[in-house]
Amino acid sequence: MKLLEQARIGTHVLKNRLAMAPMTRSRASSDGVVGSSVVTYYTQRSSAGLIISEAINISKQATGSPLTPGLYTQDQIEAWQHVTKAVHEQGGVIYAQLWHTGRVGHSLVKNGELPVAPSAVGITGQQHFTMQGLKDYETPRALDVHEIASIVGDYQQAAKNAIEAGFDGVELHAAFGYLPNQFLAESSNQRTDGYGGSHENRNRFVIEVMQALVAAVGPDKAAIRISPTSTYNGIAHLDPTEQFTMLLHQMNEMPLS
Ligand SMILES: Cc1cc2nc3c(=O)[nH]c(=O)nc-3n(C[C@H](O)[C@H](O)[C@H](O)COP(=O)(O)O)c2cc1C
Repeated sequence: MKLLEQARIGTHVLKNRLAMAPMTRSRASSDGVVGSSVVTYYTQRSSAGLIISEAINISKQATGSPLTPGLYTQDQIEAWQHVTKAVHEQGGVIYAQLWHTGRVGHSLVKNGELPVAPSAVGITGQQHFTMQGLKDYETPRALDVHEIASIVGDYQQAAKNAIEAGFDGVELHAAFGYLPNQFLAESSNQRTDGYGGSHENRNRFVIEVMQALVAAVGPDKAAIRISPTSTYNGIAHLDPTEQFTMLLHQMNEMPLS
């Protein structure tokens, strides 16, 4: 049975072809530090050839939901080292999924700060989980162009931190309506600068982040998750085939350092 045969991904040899999908568990402390229950959870699943971790916040600003973990403080990095060591002891391979939630958050989870997004367009028809129960989404604050560069830098630093934490690689969470997906989609991106309008412009943020990740960890250790047909979190791509074909082409053409 091929499922149980080895496979190669980048420079890693996987012991089988089973991969575990990333799943948010909300088991971190309020400072985004994972504990022993998270070590147990991933150890129990390390018979899979590849684990993609739950989405991990790249910065405080990136955080949208309570008790989700981070990779931007030394305490967070050291706590993840216990997880990756345990997975490696079982012969597993684990990538960190890097997360900025953008408008999929709430000021109640962000010390009173409004969520940020490509444009000031809120999510409708859906509510957000906070420690005070489900709440309607707020209108996010549109990012200015300098802040975008700084967020790309946060992704790069989080990728370096992931390697320090013992992860075997990183995956950009560009799916399911979070910040990179908010740049990609017409429904959430109404910018008129170089990050909005044409397919190429709406793809720009994702390309810049992928370049930053590749520069930080190398092309063999940088992955991406996309969801061209998902409408979760108020996302609509009007022309996903053309846009995502272009995105893949742009990534293929990307300089690798
Ligand atoms: C509780 C829960 C948490 C999830 N968290 C994440 C996540 O952090 N990152 C992500 O990319 N997908 C996340 N997903 C989506 C899953 O990775 C997966 O795509 C989804 O469950 C559909 O699985 P299927 O394609 O096997 O049906 C989550 C799904 C569930 C049910």
